Amino acid sequence: MNGDHTTAISHIGEKAGSEASVRGWLYNRRSSGKIQFLIVRDGTGYLQTVVAKAEVSPETWAEAETATQECSLEVRGKVREDARAPGGFEMSASHVRIIGPSENYPISPKEHGVDFLMSQRHLWMRSAQQHAVLRVRSELSQAIRDFFYEREYTLIDSPILTGSSVEGTSTLFETDYFGDKAYLSQSGQLYLEPAAASFGKVYCFGPTFRAEKSKTRRHLTEFWMVEPEVAFLEFEGLCDLAEEFVVSLIARTLDRSAEDLKRLERDTSKLEAVKRPFPRITYREAVETLAAKGFEMKFGADLGADEETALVADGERPLIVSRFPAAIKSFYMQPDPEDAEVVLGLDMLAPEEYGEIIGGSQRIHDFELLERRLAEHKLPREAYEWYLDIRRYGTFPHSGFGMGLERFVAWMCGIHHLREAIPYPRTLKRIYP
Ligand code: 4AD
Ligand code: MG
Repeated sequence: MNGDHTTAISHIGEKAGSEASVRGWLYNRRSSGKIQFLIVRDGTGYLQTVVAKAEVSPETWAEAETATQECSLEVRGKVREDARAPGGFEMSASHVRIIGPSENYPISPKEHGVDFLMSQRHLWMRSAQQHAVLRVRSELSQAIRDFFYEREYTLIDSPILTGSSVEGTSTLFETDYFGDKAYLSQSGQLYLEPAAASFGKVYCFGPTFRAEKSKTRRHLTEFWMVEPEVAFLEFEGLCDLAEEFVVSLIARTLDRSAEDLKRLERDTSKLEAVKRPFPRITYREAVETLAAKGFEMKFGADLGADEETALVADGERPLIVSRFPAAIKSFYMQPDPEDAEVVLGLDMLAPEEYGEIIGGSQRIHDFELLERRLAEHKLPREAYEWYLDIRRYGTFPHSGFGMGLERFVAWMCGIHHLREAIPYPRTLKRIYP
């Protein structure tokens, strides 16, 4: 029950053989003279209701005739099992009541351009595919929380208004803070590191912001990131954690979101093939591999989307690339003790051209080195005194990573562009609706 006299469509099977009422919106309709088929959706499922002229009052018949796409309505009738019906059940309607009419609904079953649909995002999210994607997202958010909860991590909410940059100053959104400058958070990491010294294993999960001026299918200006941070965890252990996390989320998606993946026509064999261990290569090895494939990439250049795709092209598992040149990574990454030019950072690259889904590293725990790195990166020391404190009072090796939720959702759902993986996407050109 829905807390009143209506039944959620996902539970309609419990009413087989008896009377029930459903409330929702008209998803689609067909009619064949004496029968009207009204497909109702209520967010939990779709139900075909059958209105037969011979079996209902003239008022109900007339009311059903006025039901147009996306009007809200209530339908009452007898529930029948029917193997051919979507969902396996059908309703023989006895009463139809329109709650809210819907005239000239702007999204018709015909093809629309993406820009148009994005401007109608508030309505577009009612469509079956978008609904499925956002359900997968919701399931994944819960899976992420469960993963860390079951492993005894403490959730630490990091602030959104911040005074310091984590991932470079070029993508900061600046705002006025009572006459001072503040920035929207690019990552909760700097705030998690102190928390790791209080709780051991922590994570944050929330919105992050980057003024990305690049217009790609993999970049949003507002996206959700989950970030674990673990005291005394070193680099190899971090790679293991990232791997375990990804495998666990995939298993959960396959298990709990099977119906949605089916609606999205996702080839799930590709996801089933993702098993541990993931191949691991160093950045230096990646440069060699790419050279052999004809890329002109020198040590010190960043991996672009094409390079990422070329590296994982043959594999069905994600690839972990590690040990990047210090110059192309963030200031806080711990140098590799065996190779002074590189840092203990990792990128996990997803197969099927989904690119980087995880970025992480072991953090510098030496006070002087961190001090030096701040200066080299021309970061204002005053804004980082508190961050340096973690290396002043009981410093400890520690590591963590960040995973972009939308990139993971897009991969699971097999959708091309990140903008469909979040309810209200924010990109270079879009802040409406
Ligand atoms: O690699 P990034 O920049 O790493 C960090 O922010 C670290 N401070 C995280 C940490 O170690 N705690 O970002 C992490 C992940 C990327 O791998 C990607 O999945 C996602 O965040 N991401 C984006 N997703 C959508 N749009 C963007 N503009 C993104 N930028 C990063
Ligand atoms: Mg990164």
